[in-house]
Amino acid sequence: MDYLSEFNSNIAHINKSLDMYFRDSDMLEDFSRVVRYSLLAGGKRVRPMLLLEFYKLQSGMSGYGGGAMIFACAVEMIHTYSLIHDDLPCMDNDDYRRGQLTSHKKFGEARAVLAGDALLNKAFELIFTEAAGSGIPAEIILEAGKVISAASGSRGMVGGQILDMENEGFSAGPQRVEITSELKTGALFSAACECGVILGGGGVQEREAAKRYARDTGLAFQIMDDILNVEGTKENMGKSIGSDKANRKVTFVDIYGAAECKSKVSQLTASAQKAVSGFRDSGYAVWLSGFLSERNR
Ligand code: IPE
Ligand code: IPE
Ligand code: MG
Ligand code: MG
Repeated sequence: MDYLSEFNSNIAHINKSLDMYFRDSDMLEDFSRVVRYSLLAGGKRVRPMLLLEFYKLQSGMSGYGGGAMIFACAVEMIHTYSLIHDDLPCMDNDDYRRGQLTSHKKFGEARAVLAGDALLNKAFELIFTEAAGSGIPAEIILEAGKVISAASGSRGMVGGQILDMENEGFSAGPQRVEITSELKTGALFSAACECGVILGGGGVQEREAAKRYARDTGLAFQIMDDILNVEGTKENMGKSIGSDKANRKVTFVDIYGAAECKSKVSQLTASAQKAVSGFRDSGYAVWLSGFLSERNR
């Protein structure tokens, strides 16, 4: 199978697993539909894919059927919750996401906030019930759970969202914008890759290599997101374009200009690819960082 087919097959497997959740058929059926609207809307599934890939790099086994997939679903739920909240009027105030109206536009702000809350909590429920019951040793579940919870909170993604918000209308410098990106986007990339290694039984050295790959791929990914917010199309991206400017947000494009941003993306991608050279069969991870650096969606 070529790498692009593998990418699409990964997405299909992840979607199939995500589809098992929020299937209530009682009084909460309508609310479950609100959650599923955002969760199953067709994101790229990069973070769960990274988790599964690093699990495979470490263990030599596919993560489709076991505890790694449960963790992958948990990471995607945390990411989807962060997007629902990110789009709210009190944050980026965006109307489109994943090719459709944002959750608050479709269902109102209260349900959107609660859908995000439900996804965040479901993620940890999955880790402590389903993943813990999947045969993975308890100390490994605990270690991976610690990594994900730290990356999602105020010293991770939430902290990045705070800095991002504070950057509005304020002349943030390169270091500030980079730290913002490392937290709001890089933290979850890093947790996904590191968790894959932890679940696959890896040690400190492999965990550090996974984090280096994630840091560079995540930073390149956010720089691309900033470029595409200027140069992309709403049709490809499935979300509003030009919102960074409308929100007076200082982005990588403001600081470096589009051309230098693209050269930074290439450098970071090469560095990410080098970080996985110690793993056997790292072809897909190498391809994926290259593919993401050339994305248009
Ligand atoms: C969007 O993430 C937010 C950023 C961190 C740039 P993705 O581009 O991974 O969004 P989906 O999951 O594919 O919708
Ligand atoms: C979103 O960052 C990051 C998180 C939700 C944590 P952005 O606000 O830059 O991403 P988009 O452009 O809305 O997807
Ligand atoms: Mg934002
Ligand atoms: Mg946004």
